[in-house]
Amino acid sequence: MAKNPIIVSCVNLKGGVGKTAIAVNFAAYCGRQNIKTLLVDLDPQTNATFSCIPIERWEAHAVEHGTVANLLGVRNHTSAEGKPKLAEETIIGGVFQGVDLIPSHLDLFTVDLELGSEVARETRLRRALKDVVPNYEIVVCDCPPNLTIPTQNALALSTHYVVPVSPDFLSSLGIALLLNRIQKLSEALENPIENAGIVMSRVGRQSYFRTQTIGTLRQTFADRVFDTEIKERSAVSESAAKNKPIYDMGDGLAADEFSRFSKELLNAIGYKKQ
Ligand SMILES: Nc1ncnc2c1ncn2[C@@H]1O[C@H](COP(=O)(O)OP(=O)(O)O)[C@@H](O)[C@H]1O
Ligand SMILES: [Mg+2]
Repeated sequence: MAKNPIIVSCVNLKGGVGKTAIAVNFAAYCGRQNIKTLLVDLDPQTNATFSCIPIERWEAHAVEHGTVANLLGVRNHTSAEGKPKLAEETIIGGVFQGVDLIPSHLDLFTVDLELGSEVARETRLRRALKDVVPNYEIVVCDCPPNLTIPTQNALALSTHYVVPVSPDFLSSLGIALLLNRIQKLSEALENPIENAGIVMSRVGRQSYFRTQTIGTLRQTFADRVFDTEIKERSAVSESAAKNKPIYDMGDGLAADEFSRFSKELLNAIGYKKQ
């Protein structure tokens, strides 16, 4: 049993930058290395959930055993009768080799309105998962593209965060602000967390603009940017649609990129086999 699991949140204020692809495939990489891994989907868009399991399996589980929405205490919740659930019950075991999943739910879209005046609403997940996280070596939280209550709950729980950035959306000013906001937020939540790094994601065909923006980012954030860049490859979106990790898609280059990135991230967060 891991005493102090490493908990990594995947965050960016932008959508479509590859947060979910990176969270899911990093978790899958860890699982394949026999690292006991839990993936927590905190995005109401449920993309990480549906990258791992088909919708029918999710529906049955959500009704009977609940989702992360139950752990956050969403009251007007349509599944699992909005009842509080034990974290253990919400877990779907073995979605990938070595990976368990706490699925998300669309009802999280209104969580900010529902929990707006509740006390200690940012630490609900931390409290709910208290007895569960010691069963894992790595926990990966996939966050929505904002810093609202689900992301705050992930940050209140995490030891580290990683920021996927797509050069198409890149502005180094935006990233500096984001890092600053996350640090401030984590301090306010009394859980100072470490920036594990920035990963260039969905990198498309070479162009002057892209090369320049990536160059600026590497210059500004220096060794904070991972060496490995995740390229734009069709196997990545296909793997999500097929509920498979990238390593099972027969695209050696894509699999190799995610493996190299995952190794770098494990290094950055100081993972050591227990
Ligand atoms: N490296 C990649 N190559 C090709 N498609 C990707 C890649 N990463 C993500 N995608 C696809 O792009 C879309 C957005 O990616 P996603 O990981 O969901 O981003 P986010 O979680 O930041 O919103 C999804 O359809 C996803 O399958
Ligand atoms: Mg996502």
